Amino acid sequence: MDYGLTGKRALVTGSSSGIGEGIARRLAEAGVTVAVHGRNPGRTSAVADAIKAAGGQAIAVTGDLVEDGAAERIRDRIDAQLGGVDILVNNAGGRFAGFNHMDWFGIPAADWIGSYKLNVVAAALMIEQFVPGMKERGWGRAIQISSGIAIQQPPVFPDYQAAKTALNSLSGSLAKALGGTGVTSNVISAGVIYTPGSDDELAKAANAFGLEDWKKEERRFALEFFHHSVGRMGRPDDLAAAVLYMASPLADFVTGAHLVVDGGGASAL
Ligand SMILES: NC(=O)c1ccc[n+]([C@@H]2O[C@H](COP(=O)([O-])OP(=O)(O)OC[C@H]3O[C@@H](n4cnc5c(N)ncnc54)[C@H](OP(=O)(O)O)[C@@H]3O)[C@@H](O)[C@H]2O)c1
Repeated sequence: MDYGLTGKRALVTGSSSGIGEGIARRLAEAGVTVAVHGRNPGRTSAVADAIKAAGGQAIAVTGDLVEDGAAERIRDRIDAQLGGVDILVNNAGGRFAGFNHMDWFGIPAADWIGSYKLNVVAAALMIEQFVPGMKERGWGRAIQISSGIAIQQPPVFPDYQAAKTALNSLSGSLAKALGGTGVTSNVISAGVIYTPGSDDELAKAANAFGLEDWKKEERRFALEFFHHSVGRMGRPDDLAAAVLYMASPLADFVTGAHLVVDGGGASAL
């Protein structure tokens, strides 16, 4: 299928692994030149190299998004090599201190601030760097990867949830600020997706559910523990397919939207 994306340029933050990697690979398959981004140089280059080996076009760009000046440095690198981007996928994120704290109480201020910086401020700064160029060219996409947890609000990881809720808000107000420019802003929220970032958390949840290896009983685990109506866990490609649509001209009439890709998890609650 032709998504009308041939020749477009994209930056996918946090694409050295997990969901971002899946998105980068899918966009490259659709003819997009992709800036693969991560903190770890080896992992980031490996994804860019794999895309090129498969016949796509990619560059590798590194930088820790919570460091001062990171957004400007990444913009300079990308401008020098690609001359800007048409599609920005704000995917990098997660819980600042790792998904290892299950209690609502006792979360240090540094974690609240860190989760906000990683999931909200980093995305805002990338938008500041890349969206003005899209406006000048009259076409573009800002796609924010959020989490179903921001709307479900289970009593865990409140710093992460609150940050993702703020990301949803930022994306909506940006859509309005971009009215009439040809640039859209949308949120795609992930449910529970099996990635390197969620591996430990899934193992802990499975143990609490009484399973030694959830992959051997994925259907039961997905249906009974996570209430995924589709009866399986999510994979990065589930998100990548949604991003491909939202990035493409097929979604020209979609802005300020929030698409939840969670196997029915949110609607089951
Ligand atoms: N997996 C899920 O179940 C799930 C559910 C809902 C939402 N999400 C959201 O989906 C996104 C991707 O999650 P994932 O599970 O794919 O994560 P992951 O496997 O842990 O990958 C995270 C990616 O982000 C990069 N990254 C992390 N912190 C960074 C920082 N400070 N600066 C720059 N890059 C950074 C990592 O780079 P390096 O590896 O190079 O350090 C990596 O490429 C996140 O926004 C997450 O909140 C995930």
